[in-house]
Amino acid sequence: MAVDINWSLLRSEAKKAMERAYAPYSKFPVGAAALVDDGRIVSGCNVENASYGITLCAECGLISELIKSGGGRLVAFTCTGEQDDRLMPCGRCRQLLQEHAAAELLIDHAAGIKTLNEIFPYAFDRTDLV
Ligand code: THU
Repeated sequence: MAVDINWSLLRSEAKKAMERAYAPYSKFPVGAAALVDDGRIVSGCNVENASYGITLCAECGLISELIKSGGGRLVAFTCTGEQDDRLMPCGRCRQLLQEHAAAELLIDHAAGIKTLNEIFPYAFDRTDLV
């Protein structure tokens, strides 16, 4: 936890992403932003669909931007809705984040900063495939 994270910058990038959300069905726009280990910030918003189940969470867009812009490991993550809340990633998105997380991915939680390992312990990952 030695790294100094600019959480207010990350939160404002998440808000900016949220403003681009396409959420006509739930009317629950979401934005997510993360710091990459090379200093980049990547972000994403939710993109819903008339076929509700194929909705893309904000984290999907974030991971897509991460890969498209050069990859790297995620070191800090925040997610927001319209209120000034710190949303927790859904279960599927925890798995998505896990794949690209640094050894310790910090998660912005209303009760204080957590790590991905704390909120998603005993995860299945690539080491299980060998
Ligand atoms: N949503 C996200 O974008 N990320 C999450 O981690 C949780 C849920 C979105 C999906 C849907 O468009 C809306 O929130 C309501 O569930």
